[in-house]
Amino acid sequence: MLAYRHAFHAGNHADVLKHTVLTRVLRYMNGKDKGYRLVDTHAGAGGYSLEGRYAQKKGEFEAGVARLWGRDDLPEAVADYLSIVRQFNPDGTLTQYPGSPAFAQMLLRPQDQLRMFELHPTDHRILASYLGTVRGAEVYDKDGFDGLKGQVPPPTRRGVVLMDPSYEGHGDYGRVIASLRDAITRFAEGVYMVWYPQVSKLEAAQLPKRLEALAPKGWLHARLTVQQPDSMGFGLAGSGVFIINPPYTLHAELLEVMPYLTEVLGQYDDANYLLEQRAA
Ligand SMILES: C[S@@+](CC[C@H](N)C(=O)[O-])C[C@H]1O[C@@H](n2cnc3c(N)ncnc32)[C@H](O)[C@@H]1O
Repeated sequence: MLAYRHAFHAGNHADVLKHTVLTRVLRYMNGKDKGYRLVDTHAGAGGYSLEGRYAQKKGEFEAGVARLWGRDDLPEAVADYLSIVRQFNPDGTLTQYPGSPAFAQMLLRPQDQLRMFELHPTDHRILASYLGTVRGAEVYDKDGFDGLKGQVPPPTRRGVVLMDPSYEGHGDYGRVIASLRDAITRFAEGVYMVWYPQVSKLEAAQLPKRLEALAPKGWLHARLTVQQPDSMGFGLAGSGVFIINPPYTLHAELLEVMPYLTEVLGQYDDANYLLEQRAA
């Protein structure tokens, strides 16, 4: 039984970070004509209404994408991310938020392939009706950790994997490591992007170090902390993205992005970011 629904969180600070980085990675991949495959192992519904009861329940997007909406001082990479969100809201009012499959759909080219896994029956149905018949795209109602195996290496040996679990499933932290270890054995040169929540859990704190160990050819880690956990130590303080084999351009781009997002999305005085990498 899957309880997690991304509709509650669409457009929050974590989505802003994740989708800004995803946009940078895909723009970089588009720099070469040769096609590539994007595997979205935990795809969600593909797009979300910000006026629906899920998004309205906690209004998380208000402290996320909505804070960027009217600004005129956006760094280039954030402006590029927001331009995609704007294409989803052609009348200029922020009412819809694109999920990772929608970012992919906007950025992938005819020679590229999109493979999406989503287990929740409702979100899978929405995703399949949105992208299921698009050329080059395939939507599976299967486990994304297991499904990754069959997707790498891609025929062109160019590929990106976005692994964005809810971490509410049993053993998700361990499954991230196991499925990536297997995928990297099959396809060492792939770009692997993992999102993780900054929560008071040992497994979450240990995940970046465990990912480093899988990345002998180089990695980049960006973490954005926007709020304090509540008095019980619960709550999403922030989130991180860890990229194995990152584009060489990414660190310089995020040097501009991270301080800006900290300033604009921070919800307390000690909001902060971490940006580190080890090049090959
Ligand atoms: C954080 S959300 C994905 C958000 C999406 N990647 C985006 O950026 O718009 C995680 C999704 O994974 C789905 N899910 C959970 N366990 C899964 C699994 N083992 N395989 C595939 N999907 C899974 C959940 O139903 C949920 O929709």
